[in-house]
Amino acid sequence: MLDFGQIPLSRAPVLSDRILVCVAWPYANYLLHVGQVAGAVLPADVFARYQRLAGNEVVMVSGSDSHGTPITVTADREGVEPREIVDRYHAKILETWERLGIVYDLYTTTLTDNHYATTQEVFLRLLEKDLLYRKSQDQLYDPQAERFLPDRYVEGTCPICGYGEARGDQCDNCGSQLDAIDLINPKSRMTGAIPVIRQSEHYFLRLTELEAGLKDWVGKQAHWRRNVLNFTLGSLNEGLVDRAITRDISWGVPVPVEGWDDKRIYVWFDAVIGYLSATREWAGRTGDPEAWRPFWEDPATRSYYFIGKDNIVFHTIIWPAILMGYGGLDLPYDVPANQYVNMPTGEKQSKSRGTGTWMLDLLDVYEPDTIRFYLTTIFPETSDSVFAEDDLIRTNNDVLIATWGNLANRVISMVHRNFEGIVPATGELAPESEAIMAEARAAFTTVGAEYNACHFRNAVNDSMALAKAANRYLDERAPWKAVKVDRVHAAETLATALTVINALKVLLHPVLPFTTRRLHEDLGFDGTVLGHGWAFEPVPAGTHLREARPLYTKIEVEPVGAPAR
Ligand code: MF3
Ligand code: ZN
Repeated sequence: MLDFGQIPLSRAPVLSDRILVCVAWPYANYLLHVGQVAGAVLPADVFARYQRLAGNEVVMVSGSDSHGTPITVTADREGVEPREIVDRYHAKILETWERLGIVYDLYTTTLTDNHYATTQEVFLRLLEKDLLYRKSQDQLYDPQAERFLPDRYVEGTCPICGYGEARGDQCDNCGSQLDAIDLINPKSRMTGAIPVIRQSEHYFLRLTELEAGLKDWVGKQAHWRRNVLNFTLGSLNEGLVDRAITRDISWGVPVPVEGWDDKRIYVWFDAVIGYLSATREWAGRTGDPEAWRPFWEDPATRSYYFIGKDNIVFHTIIWPAILMGYGGLDLPYDVPANQYVNMPTGEKQSKSRGTGTWMLDLLDVYEPDTIRFYLTTIFPETSDSVFAEDDLIRTNNDVLIATWGNLANRVISMVHRNFEGIVPATGELAPESEAIMAEARAAFTTVGAEYNACHFRNAVNDSMALAKAANRYLDERAPWKAVKVDRVHAAETLATALTVINALKVLLHPVLPFTTRRLHEDLGFDGTVLGHGWAFEPVPAGTHLREARPLYTKIEVEPVGAPAR
């Protein structure tokens, strides 16, 4: 028999952590492209799946960002109500999560009564604490349309990099957050008119007041990614300015103050509050309306915000400032912001320019685990990366299948061919068998640490290194030959390899949930991978394996090139 004396068979987690996984809320005015998914959503899902496997208490929330000029500009262009745009794209976004295997505890929208109430409650608390004040300021106004032109209603030249098509809220070229009033040669996107300047009164958040507290807090976040920390410290050192948190627009959360009916709360103010309101909504749906509290009020809870680099300032400065002002709620624990996923031409994937690859198009062509695996290998964790469909195909065929899929398939097939599909018993193990088992056992510590640190590419690389070691082990012991002369030798090889495969099933489950679920059944286990937890577990002698079936399909097709429509 295998000696499992030192293997901890108990799956009971020692002490469980509480973890809140927050994912950037996509604007509900477009289909999702690969960049958004590889940049924020899939890393969050992989992380949450790992944490659940590790026995931690996890809530993962997000929703469709439904307010602001991104939505109204699209609605205006189509001549429909903003709500119609949100409904349409929210449904498509949900379909994307379903098909890609993204498991939220709640994916909602910012159009719920709960979200409006939470946003207004936060607004009023800040007002009460004198962290909001009113001030008139210059605004761009379209004399033809007789309307103010907030944010994306204007276009012009970026005052920072000179890019000619910067929008009033942000420059897509240099990534700077802008104020519409600072654009050079502004033009109304509504009528093409040259805007005039008019005064309008708004509520401002006293970031100048909160700056010292923020500096103090950011100074203690040594565990943040270098780029996130540097960017945030840079902004703080430049000095913050108070920011308008209302807009001259009619679509958004109403300002809970008399006489403010013609203005709305700024979309970025309400969107970040979505993390809190969504956790409350989740709690309500579980039947315990207070269940959100420990996720926000217990300082031991770790909250992670998965976002792209263009959103850093909102998550490391604005949202923490709002939370500090509100009081009593946890600030972000980590903001593992990613860089961008570019196209093979080096261009950015950009919704507004219509370049990039839509997730739903990819899902029409490829298996979700193939997509998830490839995207994980290109997560832009430290620098921009490139999405290329021929690279996806190559990764599926030459890495996912060649190193991992075939390993599982070969070994299960050999057990069927030579041992009637029943896992054979073994005697004392040879040193190389002991060694590969030890490597598999140790991987739970090393790979787990990589997932926990949001180093997902490392987690996959380390797991694949174990798969490669298992392939070498098989090649050296050649059970297909040994079985003819020494069945005991072959039995040991196959039983050992099965246990390493079972370890890899768990190690790769956060990235490959669909196929590892099937493998779990094929290896004769009951329940789910999740139910068995983050633990090294041998496949016991005597187990009946299911007939081998390939986990992945070799892709023969030409790249579809799935262009953005
Ligand atoms: N909708 C924004 C975007 O797509 C992201 C909002 S994230 C949140 O850039 F913090 F506001 F929720
Ligand atoms: Zn610019």
